[in-house]
Amino acid sequence: MVAALAWPTAAHNSRYAAMKISSRADVAPFYAMEVLKAANAKAARGDSVLHLEVGEPGRGAPAGVLAAAHRAIDAGGIGYTEAFGLPELRARIARYYDETHGLNVPVGRIAITTGSSGGFVLSLIAAFDVGDRVALGVPCYPAYRNMFKALGIEPVYLRTTLETRFQPTPEMLAAAGPVDGLLIASPANPSGTMLVGQPLHALVDYCNAHDVRLISDEVYHGITYERAAETILGNSKGGIVLNGFSKYYGMTGWRLGWMVLPDDMTAPMERLAQNLYISSNAVSQRAALAAFDCRDELERNVEVYRRNRDLLLEALPRAGITEMAPADGAFYIFANVGRLTNDSADFCARLLAETGVALTPGIDFDTEEGHAYIRISFAGKTDAIRDAADRIVSWLS
Ligand SMILES: Cc1ncc(COP(=O)(O)O)c(C=O)c1O
Repeated sequence: MVAALAWPTAAHNSRYAAMKISSRADVAPFYAMEVLKAANAKAARGDSVLHLEVGEPGRGAPAGVLAAAHRAIDAGGIGYTEAFGLPELRARIARYYDETHGLNVPVGRIAITTGSSGGFVLSLIAAFDVGDRVALGVPCYPAYRNMFKALGIEPVYLRTTLETRFQPTPEMLAAAGPVDGLLIASPANPSGTMLVGQPLHALVDYCNAHDVRLISDEVYHGITYERAAETILGNSKGGIVLNGFSKYYGMTGWRLGWMVLPDDMTAPMERLAQNLYISSNAVSQRAALAAFDCRDELERNVEVYRRNRDLLLEALPRAGITEMAPADGAFYIFANVGRLTNDSADFCARLLAETGVALTPGIDFDTEEGHAYIRISFAGKTDAIRDAADRIVSWLS
């Protein structure tokens, strides 16, 4: 007779106490997710909660993608794909670059990944050795520095300010000393600001001239308000582009992204992809083929974000919040609340407790100066954003 398993027990746990956990696994929590947990707990108690903390498109995947996913499942044969993805999806992405940027990108340089996050892990492993120095502007998307830590890459933080639209400059890079890489994002999270024209070209030129591997996060392309986003492709010498279906295409949970690689990286990256995750989700890939034909619905989503953004830009000054990054794109406002608090985590906790509005404290994005900032995500429904703006205004007035 098999003995019943008694697990976990104190004795069982103590057997593991001496075993090692890698110091590289000791990454910081993502506070937005902690706020989400607190907000969900409040909602479970029956309170009215408005979620402006997570960067998730409110409407999800477009109808054409859902229909294509149903067709793919009905057709069966959902197996592994090639590590770099379905040839027809890679070809469709190449066409996207032609249609959107007038660029002829060879299909062989396009690789499908498990979200842009999967592309980041592959790119960072393939481009950098443990101990390499890679620059990035702060404030920044927290996963960047946590991925650096997990992979043993040394982050070289470039302190940005409102004056540079929270984006790095060649002068900051030069002052930081020799680096192996630079990571940029446009539109960026949390600031929503973009690098276009001269500021982008100057960074690309600097990287070309100094053999700095440029990694460009273009996952928010398509969600822009003043002018179209610009890709580094066509100008960058050895740059890697990360993009994906989570944001403009509203497909966060489908875990699908893509990379555009320089020629010298396609073979090593393909071998890495084969070994690290075999292939990306096949249903998602078949469904994503339809995403490029859903432009009308996707553009309507951008118009909702624009309305939400305009509503907040009008309301926040009435709450005494006047200093913020110009939200050129993405769906975030990064605002200075230094006149109201020197502890944005406490500020957000009180705001949630007293009004039900969930925001993310700036410390997620900037461990040094973030105590004076909040990030507001306006990816949700307009009614919820309007309600949240009203609650913030009356809480602070
Ligand atoms: C700037 C930025 N890059 C990358 C990602 C990762 O997105 P995904 O892995 O869903 O493509 C996010 C998600 O919020 C993000 O904000």
